[in-house]
Amino acid sequence: MKILAIETSCDDTGIAILDARKRGKSSHCLHMMANAIQSQPVHTNYGGVFPMMAKREHGKNIVPVFEKALKDAGLFKLKIKNEKLKIDEVKIKEILSRENDLPEIFINSISKIAKPKIDAIAVTVGPGLEPALWVGISFAKALSLAWDLPLLPVNHMEGHILSILMTDEGKIPEIQFPALSLLVSGGHTELVLIKDFGKYKVIGQTRDDAAGEAFDKVARMLSLPYPGGPEISKLAKAYRESAKVSLSEIKLPRPMIHSGDFDFSFSGLKTAVLYLIRDLGDINDEQKKEIACEVEDSIVEVLTYKTIKAIEKYKIQTLIVGGGVSANTHLQKVLREKVGLKIKNEKLKIKVYFPAKKLSTDNGLMIAIAGYFNYLKKPIKKTRSLSSLKANGNLGF
Ligand code: KG4
Ligand code: ZN
Repeated sequence: MKILAIETSCDDTGIAILDARKRGKSSHCLHMMANAIQSQPVHTNYGGVFPMMAKREHGKNIVPVFEKALKDAGLFKLKIKNEKLKIDEVKIKEILSRENDLPEIFINSISKIAKPKIDAIAVTVGPGLEPALWVGISFAKALSLAWDLPLLPVNHMEGHILSILMTDEGKIPEIQFPALSLLVSGGHTELVLIKDFGKYKVIGQTRDDAAGEAFDKVARMLSLPYPGGPEISKLAKAYRESAKVSLSEIKLPRPMIHSGDFDFSFSGLKTAVLYLIRDLGDINDEQKKEIACEVEDSIVEVLTYKTIKAIEKYKIQTLIVGGGVSANTHLQKVLREKVGLKIKNEKLKIKVYFPAKKLSTDNGLMIAIAGYFNYLKKPIKKTRSLSSLKANGNLGF
């Protein structure tokens, strides 16, 4: 089946098209036909994402991203002249009424495109920024009405977990249960126990800031642009490579590392950096690198320590890391090393998966994959009323 998926939970407008089918009893074939993404550079200088600004940008970007996805997938065909268009313009305008200029832009676009062979529409319904989520949901409803297609609501975090199923080699990785997912993004830091596909239990989470948020806030204090994670990571790498690490006198806390549970807290780290910068006075580029390196070390150490503890407690066989922070190469290296050591010492079989780089941050493809597996579990009710689909900023598992 072909699924068109829409992701607008934060500051990336993503539309993907996935061709997914079952192969045999339990094997699947996933083929990415398109994965169009438009990020929002407007947030770069603000150090974070403003929900209403994100909503406005999604409204501007969603139709061009939609058309690009169709073109990339080879599914963009213009209607033949005189081909009758039977769309309910009044209803579509009503669905998109809260989205500024989107009703007209959507109707213009949909009126010229011939309906492609697509079987369902998947859309992120939460968690995330509600004004941003609504743009994708309203767009999905309008498209569902125009093309008479069923809708699949998707949990964004499940998308991050299942993003590892799409690999560059095209082979779906083998997942042995119980599995564990470390989900680290701008809004979330969670350890999720996975008993089976679709059976998730959060065993630990952040009590305040998420890991990505900590990276972003420290970056802002160091006058680095948003998103801060990749910027901090770059400086940290340069500092490590300069071989001055052993000389560094900067020591930041490892918050809650020995708390005995699987919860996290990163706001104290941010405050510690704030005081450090205040005490240092004017900081130079070298000191910036030194601080970035210690911040990254602190976050990675806490994440790795608790993940290993959870692996031990729940006898985990597969570790899946997901979310924007999973792109952090230092986290990848340290986690792989530590889990590798466990495997060697205790003769265990634990597989560790990170998403392909382009799928670590928000994208439509992971939503399409989650939509497909949800569909297999619970085939679509054609009768689902469009009004029942709502954004839920705090949606949990
Ligand atoms: O999953 P994501 O794209 O959006 C949310 O759902 O939040 O994650 C974005 C977060 C941002 O906080 C960003 O700074 C962080 O992921 N991030 C990184 C890296 N790349 C993105 N953090 C650390 N190292 C990176 N290389
Ligand atoms: Zn995300």
